[in-house]
Amino acid sequence: MSIVNIKIEGIPYQVEDGLTILEAAKACGYEIPSLCAFNHGECNAGSCRVCLVEATGARGLVASCVYPVSEGMEVRINTPAAVEARRHSVELLLSNHNQNCQACDKNGWCELLHAAKLVGAREGAYAGEHAETFVDELAPGLIRDTSKCILCGRCIARCQNAHGLGILGFENRGFNTIVSPAENRSFADSPCIQCGQCVSVCPTGALMEHSEIDKVDEAFRAGKHVIVQAAPAVRAALGEEFGYPIGTPVTGKMIAALRRLGFERVYDVNFGADLTIMEEGTELLGRLTNGGVLPMITSCSPGWINYAEYNYGDLLDHLSSCKSPHQMQGAVIKSYWAEQHGVDPKDIFVVSIMPCVAKKYEKDREQLKVNGIPDVDAVLTTRELARLIMRSGMRFNKLPDEEWDQDIMGDYSGAGVIFGVTGGVMEAALRTVYFKLTGKEKDKITFEEVRGHEAGIREASLDINGTTVNVAMASGMRSAKILLDEIREGKSKYHFIEIMGCPGGCINGGGQPYVRPSLLPDEDDDILETYKEKRARALYSEDERQVIRQSHNNPQIKELYEKYLGEPNSHKAHELLHTTYQAKERFR
Ligand code: SF4
Ligand code: SF4
Ligand code: SF4
Ligand code: FES
Repeated sequence: MSIVNIKIEGIPYQVEDGLTILEAAKACGYEIPSLCAFNHGECNAGSCRVCLVEATGARGLVASCVYPVSEGMEVRINTPAAVEARRHSVELLLSNHNQNCQACDKNGWCELLHAAKLVGAREGAYAGEHAETFVDELAPGLIRDTSKCILCGRCIARCQNAHGLGILGFENRGFNTIVSPAENRSFADSPCIQCGQCVSVCPTGALMEHSEIDKVDEAFRAGKHVIVQAAPAVRAALGEEFGYPIGTPVTGKMIAALRRLGFERVYDVNFGADLTIMEEGTELLGRLTNGGVLPMITSCSPGWINYAEYNYGDLLDHLSSCKSPHQMQGAVIKSYWAEQHGVDPKDIFVVSIMPCVAKKYEKDREQLKVNGIPDVDAVLTTRELARLIMRSGMRFNKLPDEEWDQDIMGDYSGAGVIFGVTGGVMEAALRTVYFKLTGKEKDKITFEEVRGHEAGIREASLDINGTTVNVAMASGMRSAKILLDEIREGKSKYHFIEIMGCPGGCINGGGQPYVRPSLLPDEDDDILETYKEKRARALYSEDERQVIRQSHNNPQIKELYEKYLGEPNSHKAHELLHTTYQAKERFR
């Protein structure tokens, strides 16, 4: 790492060579407003002109997010010309912006509003014509509101970098430019996998999850039995919304909050994760021993399922037929739980709290209904749960730590907890497969070979009682494509593959709290990796604290099979817990 000497406002600093002025200034304790840069090294489009500064060696003002530092450079952030230019840049963006902040879900996390405050933007400085705008709300997962878009291009970069998908792009020209799927289609009519990664990086309210808070309110008003279940990754990130350090598990307080919001039962999706492992592990063993289609690929990430149906319709028989954990658990609530409690399934309203936007789409899939009844009725993201808690007036930090409801599905194993991390489903499944093949628990429970948090591909080869099991994991469709193309070409050496839609898995899902470098100036430079790693650690530490760490040792799972489902993969289990897939037409 070489060092260069620079001056900012006449004060000498030594900074890493190769940094942009924006990054170098941040390292020296300055916050230059920025909107199109995202500090992930992937989104620096230099398009918004909000970060303008003066720098020696440059002609005129430069966009600090793309202009690199050099030896002897003198940077001026606070000259009248730079201050005025940044203010004009933001005022111009606001001149064509629907400023209904009080009704905007991004309020509180909006980077445009933050930048407007930093530069001292004046109201109505550039009154004039407004471009024609519209709202696309046809997709269950996402909403796109062109009146809030500042054309920064972050969403385009994120979709490309995470998935190699070019779903979003600039359409039209000049004043009429918009960012949209091809031919200005709705997300619902495009091969968008509804992962919500673009929502995570959008600095304004132009891209948002499709909120289902109103639906939940309506279910309470209608006097339904409203039952909630929360996914593992939610507890690892919800605290960020209430000022806890990144990676602080807030399980007990989250349960207390959900109970105080009025939910009749508060369950952990980890029970459903254990159930998934029982079904998926049995399915894998069946395929391994009976010459079934291999490699088998996990099916708990609906973003990935969407991608497979659009792009690899010829490989759908490789997918496990298992529903995802929250769908399985919803199906059990509306059958076994309903029977045990004498409740008509039609009067039950199941709400899933998820780190994921694609789960909103998943719950509406016809293939997941049992006798026309959906397993899950509403999906709220981690962010929506935070909004519900704030709306209720609860002071999250002051809540006691409470326990999950225990009836029927209160027990869970450590294997269920780590579902939220890439490699977690694989690790959980291997614990059970090992037991089934050897009749023994593996001494060392953690399969370190399959751990990690990088978005790339990882693989391992495990010798279990003389049977070699080759496994691989990928998260994000850019990585998954490599493994899928190998299968298509007949070159895959794997028996079992885990694919998660979002890079890093559910802890980095499109519904998790926003990562906002510009709002968190003291965070590490590589902020996204920091978030993924710390949230993942929160889940691994919960796994380590569990007494039961394998799904097949969960006593309530055993009881569910004994009393209701029979064996894993039984006829009843198939009716409730398994699903089908269908190739979809890809428009572009
Ligand atoms: S995107 Fe930001 S500035 Fe625009 S309406 Fe929403 S909160 Fe206000
Ligand atoms: S939801 Fe995912 S696939 Fe769809 S446009 Fe956004 S990043 Fe791309
Ligand atoms: S939708 Fe959001 S991220 Fe995409 S260009 Fe518009 S403001 Fe930027
Ligand atoms: S031009 Fe630098 S943040 Fe947009």
